[in-house]
Amino acid sequence: MSEKKAQLTIDGIDKTIVLPVYEGSTGPDVVDVRSLVGEGVFTYDPGFVSTAACDSEITYIDGGAGILLYRGYPIEQLAEHSTFLETCYLLLNGELPTEEENADFENGIRYHTMVDEQIHQFFKGFPRTAHPMAMLCGVVGALSAFYHDTLDADLPEHRMTAAHRVIAKMPTLAAMCYKHGVGQPFMYPQNDMTLSENFLHMMFSTPCEAPKVSPTLVKAMDTIFLLHADHEQNASTSTVRLAGSTGANPYACIASGIAALWGPAHGGANEAVLEMLDEIGDESRIEEYILKAKDKSDPFRLMGFGHRVYKNFDPRAKVMRGICDEVLAELGIENDPLFRIARKLEKIALEDEYFISKKLYPNVDFYSGIVLKAMGIPTSLFTVIFATGRTPGWIAHWNEMMSSEYKIGRPRQLYKGYTARDYPAK
Ligand code: CMC
Repeated sequence: MSEKKAQLTIDGIDKTIVLPVYEGSTGPDVVDVRSLVGEGVFTYDPGFVSTAACDSEITYIDGGAGILLYRGYPIEQLAEHSTFLETCYLLLNGELPTEEENADFENGIRYHTMVDEQIHQFFKGFPRTAHPMAMLCGVVGALSAFYHDTLDADLPEHRMTAAHRVIAKMPTLAAMCYKHGVGQPFMYPQNDMTLSENFLHMMFSTPCEAPKVSPTLVKAMDTIFLLHADHEQNASTSTVRLAGSTGANPYACIASGIAALWGPAHGGANEAVLEMLDEIGDESRIEEYILKAKDKSDPFRLMGFGHRVYKNFDPRAKVMRGICDEVLAELGIENDPLFRIARKLEKIALEDEYFISKKLYPNVDFYSGIVLKAMGIPTSLFTVIFATGRTPGWIAHWNEMMSSEYKIGRPRQLYKGYTARDYPAK
C-alpha cells in the first residue's frame, strides 16, 4: 500500500481529502483521485495531460531525457539487435523470446498472413480513389465477421489468436490498400519471406515480375515498423483501450485505433513532411519557409520538427536518420532535389537559434517520411504503414487491459450548458 499521501482542500467542502500517491517503477508519482467522486467533485483535465488512465508494464517514455523503452529495453538497442517480429513478441509477452519461442511465433504469424478471399470483394467495393486509411479502417473492423470462433476476450488463448492474426494480416491488408489504388492484382504473401520482405513483395511485385528487394530496404522497412511499434498511452492506443473497456471485439478495437491514428495531429505528420517539401519545391525557397515558421502571425510550422513529449531529442529520429542515409545512398538519390531540400532544412533548423532555443529537433516522422518516399511508397500510404507498425502496441495494450481488472472508460465533464428549463408551451 502507498505510504505517500496528497492532501486536497476544496472551498465549500469542510474537510481535507487525503489521497494516496503511487510510485511507478520509474517516472513521476501518480495521485489516486478515484475517491473524489464520492466527495462530489471531479478532476478537470482536457486532453488527459495530467491523468494516468491505467497501470501498464509495456512502454516507458522519458521525454526530457529522450528515453523510450519497450518492456525495459531501449529503442536504440532493439533497432540495432532485434527485428519487428521479435519486438512484437516482446511487447505482447513481456520478455524476449527464446530461439524456440521465436521460431514458433514467426511460424504462427507466417500462417496467418493470408486473408479470406471474401476480403478481396470488400476492396472491390471501394472506389480506386479511396484514401488507404478509409479502406484499412473498414476492412480491419470487418475481420471480426470472419472469426466468430475466437472472439471471447475473456479467454487468453482467444486473445493471443486475435493478436497473431491482426499482426500477421496488417501488412497484407496495407499492401492491398496500395494495390487497389493503383489497379494492380493483389499479391499473396510468401511464406519463405520475413514479414518486412513479404510486405515489400506484396507492395511492389506483380504476377508479371517480382523484383528482388534489397536487404537495405528490407532493414529500413523493418526498422520503421519497429520504431513505431508502441508509444505508451497516445491517442490511438488510448482509443483502443477505451473501445476495449466496453468488451468490444479486438478487430473493432484496432479499427478504432486506426481511425484515431488517421488524424493529422497523430499519424499524419510524415505525410505532412512530404507535402511541405513539395510545397517548398526549391532550395532557394528554404529561407522563406524558415522565416514563415518563426513568424508568430503565420500559422505555418516546419513539419517533422518538434515533439509534444521529446523535448531534447527523439530517440527514434536518431535511429531513423542513420537508416535514411543508408537508403538514399543505396538508391543513389542523395542529390534528388526533394532530398536536398530535406537535408538543407535539417541543417538550418539544427543550427538556427529559434529552433535550438525551443528545442525543435527533427522528429521520427521527418526521416521516416523521407525514407518511405525514397522507397517509392506514396504519401497517402504513410499512415497505413504507421498503423501496421503500431498494431503490436495496440494489441498488447488491449491484451494487458483485458487480462487485468478494468472498468469501462467513462470520463466526466465540467457542464457549462443550460440548467433545467421548461419546454415552451405551444
Ligand atoms: N515549427 C515552428 N515552430 C514550432 C514548431 C515547428 N514545427 N513546433 C513548435 N513550434 C514553436 C511554437 O510556435 C511555440 O512557440 P512559442 O513558445 O513562441 O509560442 C513553441 O515552439 C512550442 O510549441 P508548442 O506547440 O507549445 O509545442 P508542443 O509540444 O505543444 O507541440 C508539436 C509539439 C509536435 C505539435 C509541434 O512541435 C508541431 O506542430 N510540430 C510539427 C508537426 C509534427 O512534426 N508533428 C509530429 C510529431 S511526432 C508524432 C508522433 O510521435 O507520433
